[in-house]
Amino acid sequence: MYNSKIIGLGHYVPDNVVTNDDLSKVMDTNDAWIQERTGIKERRHVVKGDGDTTTTMGVKAAKIAIERAGIDKDDIDFIVFATLSPDYYFPGPGVLVQRDLGIKTVGALDVRNQCSGFVYAISIADQYIKTGMYKNVLVIGSELHSHGLDMTTRGRGVSVIFGDGAGAAVLSREEDNTKGILSTHLHSEGQHAEELSLIAPGMGKRWVTDIIEDNDPQDESYFPYMNGQFVFKNAVVRFSEVIIEGLEKNKLKSTDINLLVPHQANLRISQFIQKKFQLSDDQVFNNIMKYGNTTAASIPIALTEAWEAGKVESGDLVVLAAFGSGFTWGSVIIRW
Ligand SMILES: CC(C)(COP(=O)(O)OP(=O)(O)OC[C@H]1O[C@@H](n2cnc3c(N)ncnc32)[C@H](O)[C@@H]1OP(=O)(O)O)[C@@H](O)C(=O)NCCC(=O)NCCS
Repeated sequence: MYNSKIIGLGHYVPDNVVTNDDLSKVMDTNDAWIQERTGIKERRHVVKGDGDTTTTMGVKAAKIAIERAGIDKDDIDFIVFATLSPDYYFPGPGVLVQRDLGIKTVGALDVRNQCSGFVYAISIADQYIKTGMYKNVLVIGSELHSHGLDMTTRGRGVSVIFGDGAGAAVLSREEDNTKGILSTHLHSEGQHAEELSLIAPGMGKRWVTDIIEDNDPQDESYFPYMNGQFVFKNAVVRFSEVIIEGLEKNKLKSTDINLLVPHQANLRISQFIQKKFQLSDDQVFNNIMKYGNTTAASIPIALTEAWEAGKVESGDLVVLAAFGSGFTWGSVIIRW
């Protein structure tokens, strides 16, 4: 059995900055409310017509990660792409990345685990590398939320939180099993599936034909729904549990953590976790202030920025943790 390690990281966000004040011009909200509840100051939105999609942003992040990994695109053995906002209903963006990067006909897998998507994707890549089946796996998390949100006062409880962007990592074989990804931990609780969801169009409750037939301008079913307080309460519990699970599995303590990179759901959630584990500001990386919640892209964007800022060094214990729609949650314990 091998371990896997992250050998290259990259991220891409659209240039267009949307501040809280910008949002207050199109809906009844304000900078103070948003900052107080979420910590978000601004986010990036793709400008329609500029050509960015979930896939193209993922490709841009991937190119940087591959270059930093010091490998050739033809050394990639497998692609894993996590998103809740794919370019097409089908096929998923994994194959579009294979095409757009001109990678040989390797397998491409799409992960549908929302805010936990990148943690799930890393876990999948890790298993393939552990068994020796693949040597280099490209993992991408990318989201284009902005054009699927209700940008009116009706949708303000959700729309102010989410932003666009992409991050990518190249995972590679590590022969020393004390280094790299030590373990991954995944969970789900479908009982709460609808508490943070986008129901339509789907083949379950609301078909495309239903939407067309009803032709109802008040229809909210194709916008995301979030029971914010319920999500918040579950998030703080599950984040904590899955970090503890990962530490215990490796006989580590919270004092061993050099850097925690939590999914950027809400600054208040990150601060709650920081306090619970008695971590200093230097031990927790947050950038939700600049980008909002970019779902599957949030951890790889944050990890890339942390690495670029020199906050991740060889030998460090780095913990990734996520919680989101599903509910799904998970953690990754890394000896860098
Ligand atoms: C979404 C969230 C910020 C809302 O904060 P909250 O304190 O729970 O606020 P509520 O939803 O109870 O709304 C409080 C009031 O603010 C209003 N409000 C909602 N969104 C608003 C906005 N963007 N601007 C101004 N007012 C807003 C509500 O209408 C409500 O008004 P009312 O009291 O007159 O009915 C918070 O619940 C949260 O962060 N939840 C977790 C979200 C999350 O992490 N999601 C991603 C998981 S991966």
